[in-house]
Amino acid sequence: NVLILDFGSQYTQLIARRVRELNIFCEIKPYNHLPDDLSEYKAVILSGSPFSVRAEDAPHPDLSQIKGKVPVLAVCYGAQYLAHFNGGNVSPSNTREYGRANLSYIKDGELFFDGISEGSQVWMSHSDTIKALPTGAYKLASTHDVENAAYKLEHEETYAIQFHPEVYHTTDGKKLLENFLVRIAGVAQTWTPDSFVETTVAELKEKIGNEKVILGLSGGVDSTVAAVLLHKAIGKHLHCIFVNNGLLRKNEFQSVLDQYKGMGLNVKGVDASARFLDSLAGESDPEKKRKAIGRVFIEVFDDESHLVEDAKWLAQGTIYPDVIESVSATGGPSATIKSHHNVGGLPDYMKLKVVEPLRMLFKDEVRRVGASMGINKELLGRHPFPGPGLAIRILGDITAEKVAILQEVDAIFINGLKEWGLYDRVWQAGAMLLPVNSVGVMGDERTYEKCVALRAVESTDGMTADWVNLPYEFLQKTSNDIINKVRGVNRVVYDISSKPPATIEWE
Ligand code: XMP
Repeated sequence: NVLILDFGSQYTQLIARRVRELNIFCEIKPYNHLPDDLSEYKAVILSGSPFSVRAEDAPHPDLSQIKGKVPVLAVCYGAQYLAHFNGGNVSPSNTREYGRANLSYIKDGELFFDGISEGSQVWMSHSDTIKALPTGAYKLASTHDVENAAYKLEHEETYAIQFHPEVYHTTDGKKLLENFLVRIAGVAQTWTPDSFVETTVAELKEKIGNEKVILGLSGGVDSTVAAVLLHKAIGKHLHCIFVNNGLLRKNEFQSVLDQYKGMGLNVKGVDASARFLDSLAGESDPEKKRKAIGRVFIEVFDDESHLVEDAKWLAQGTIYPDVIESVSATGGPSATIKSHHNVGGLPDYMKLKVVEPLRMLFKDEVRRVGASMGINKELLGRHPFPGPGLAIRILGDITAEKVAILQEVDAIFINGLKEWGLYDRVWQAGAMLLPVNSVGVMGDERTYEKCVALRAVESTDGMTADWVNLPYEFLQKTSNDIINKVRGVNRVVYDISSKPPATIEWE
């Protein structure tokens, strides 16, 4: 197990992902919440930070339990921190130390740089620089502009680098992490999807025993993988509830329900479409629509969970990015239940004990774990889909008729993407029904019908996104199909806005 001590760098999660790519388990902790028991950690990585070590309010934790006791890799701020407080000199740099650089010197015979040659590209991002090394340190590497790009402390396994091994632009970054973690610190590379499944299933069995667990399935990757893990551990004691809010994609409720049943899950499909549509009648404000859907979901889920007699646990598909404590957080650990569930008083099911089998996994690891358990590729590769579903893709108020129109349009678009082999190139796609009628002509008749917008974006986490340059031929065919086949639509437009400043959804 490897500890990553976070000083607030935007790249900290990336360090964790690189380490996990080496099949090594690691955890991120904020620098001001050092775990009491450090004995389980075989190596510690100190992250970068937006602070200058010379600033008074910069992170200055006591590392006496770590430094010299376990192998340490100090990155960027970490490297400067060790230098600043151990007799070195850190000052503002007067040359450019952002972006691409190349190693111009590497000390011979160091395991740390084994397999990495002079000229190797590294990525810098700092405004301070280490002018003088700390006491008892020797230089390991330089670039043309940065004399002390890497150093090591004598008589202890403490390594420091001013560049970022975690970013892709540092060509040999992964090799460097491997040299440090595997060859120097001797950490075992045993964190694989199979081993995760094996240990998690054993832990779940132990923790839950014969008690009943309730889980809300959404059709998405996280809840599905969580369900399959729990099913492996406790079989029929897992009670899954899959709610149809009437705002899902065309045929989605039935086909996903059938897939779940095919996987042997104990799942109950609850069709509450009418209840959701009633609660939305006449409402056009996006946030009020979200709230109404959240409220009805809680009511339906609460009713259903009461039908599972004597349930003791609520399972959730929470993943690691949702639980990593952020350095700037002042309060306690982050809430694990999404805000759209927190409306009104606490429903009974929220008083259950919570189990979150995926809480240590990144999204790509969830997919790999799912694949190792044999969940089919199509289910694992599904685009994200918002909880409020088509309700936030129908601008303005919602009616059953509008939902039906949008379902048809969306199905033509999504099936087209699949047929043209474009689906996996796109991170998320969907259609929006606009509150706009426009004039058209079909045959000899003038029409005055709805307009739909198609949206397809590339992204890694949904925080930023760019529109996808879909082939004109595909757009042309899709537009024709939609206008010819979907009654009530006579115009199709393609959304070419990036996020920011636009968002992915239109509401
Ligand atoms: P935006 O529109 O904010 O969307 O760029 C970013 C990602 O979040 C999804 N999204 C939601 N998911 N409830 C959800 O569960 C919501 O209310 C909601 N709003 C947006 C959106 O689909 C995209 O993946």
